[in-house]
Amino acid sequence: MKMSVIGCGYLGAVHAAAMAELGHEVVGVDVEQAKVDALSASRPPFYEPGFEELLGRAMELGRLSFSTDISAAAGSRVHFVCVGTPQRRGEYGADLQYVHSATEALLEVLNPGEVVVGKSTVPVGTAAELAEVVTGKVPGALLAWNPEFLREGFAVQDTLHPDRLVYGLPEGTGGEAACSVLDEVYARIVEAGTPKVVTDYATAEMVKVAANSFLATKISFINAMAELCEATGADVKQLADAIGHDDRIGRKFLNAGLGFGGGCLPKDIRAFMARAGELGADQALTFLREVDSINMRRRIRMVELAREVCDGSLMGKRITVLGAAFKPMSDDIRDSPALNVAAQLQLRGANVCVTDPAALDNCRRSWPQLDYAATPQEAADRADAVLLLTEWQEYQDLDPVEFGGVVRQRRVLDGRNALDRDKWEAAGWAYRALGRRAA
Ligand code: UDX
Repeated sequence: MKMSVIGCGYLGAVHAAAMAELGHEVVGVDVEQAKVDALSASRPPFYEPGFEELLGRAMELGRLSFSTDISAAAGSRVHFVCVGTPQRRGEYGADLQYVHSATEALLEVLNPGEVVVGKSTVPVGTAAELAEVVTGKVPGALLAWNPEFLREGFAVQDTLHPDRLVYGLPEGTGGEAACSVLDEVYARIVEAGTPKVVTDYATAEMVKVAANSFLATKISFINAMAELCEATGADVKQLADAIGHDDRIGRKFLNAGLGFGGGCLPKDIRAFMARAGELGADQALTFLREVDSINMRRRIRMVELAREVCDGSLMGKRITVLGAAFKPMSDDIRDSPALNVAAQLQLRGANVCVTDPAALDNCRRSWPQLDYAATPQEAADRADAVLLLTEWQEYQDLDPVEFGGVVRQRRVLDGRNALDRDKWEAAGWAYRALGRRAA
């Protein structure tokens, strides 16, 4: 099937290449020339495991192309809207300007019978509004909402093998037509037995924010427990293991530490609260405010812990930060807890040196005031304390004996509860972590 993908960020670029992999003929459209140039040359504009191979394969087969010109989307049967919906500056609500401009642009090329498929995360009610615009301008065209649940770092796998498909459809025959077009788009995925939920626009929009709110709540729950563990001397890691054995709870997303960041969870729970307020249902989501505050408090606690282990003052101390991306296997630094902590330490007078296997270019661009080093060894040269803030595997695999030879003081703060505590302590390190007692 011929299809277009509007917006070629993490979501759109991976979606476009994955659709080509499924056998479709795809054109990706983005307003940013540099991104289009990179993708056209089979070069991923961001770090995402497996994406380079997927992109290369689709380009080689001639099934994928990119353009800055919306007219390239003409003649496509399906048009995916994959643009960003960031948090509005100074408020909680989502900024929908890119969704609106992408839809406006599409109207120039859209024909009756074609389907506009929204994948961006939007406030509930957006799809119904857009549907009116689309069908008002192009009678016979359809709009569907088909949220995407991909995780950065696993985007290729999550797109080609999602754990569910959700179709938000208009009522009546239009809904049936859009449903069969989507089934054709995802034929291989549907045939693999992937669960499918066919529903209305509002439910489809809410599935996405409800899922992200649940995940954020789970993380903040365990981080609230970590606060209590700190107050009582209990151990949050063992606590998480023990409650996680209960199937009804499950161990996933119960890793206590610095909390959640990135381009989705933080802004999605805030936009959800803002939308609930507009709908007069704000009370239903006041708990998300607490989820957000617990999350932000962990960053402050980490800075406090660093000060504590540095004999009560950060002034002039050399601090090494291992990891800058908001999570491992990503170069994304949007709302990264690690960088937030690094910047706070710097503001309190510490000399902070940050390292990360993938995110350093992005860091240098956005946070030029911090120092950076390519390897943990360089970053930790004569350090007074080492902070693990993003749990890349290579940091978990560091040999604490050898690494101990580089630093001035063997003090390690495990912001992700990811290091083998016994091993580090055996190598003479003073080990501290959020939610766990000092030795
Ligand atoms: C998330 C959702 O998981 C995904 O379904 C949605 O489509 C987009 O948002 P992503 O932002 O890529 O995906 O990252 P995710 O793996 O969910 O992690 C989010 C944050 O939570 C990271 O900062 C991570 O470090 C943190 N986290 C995760 C924890 O602090 N503890 C955990 O147990 C799990």
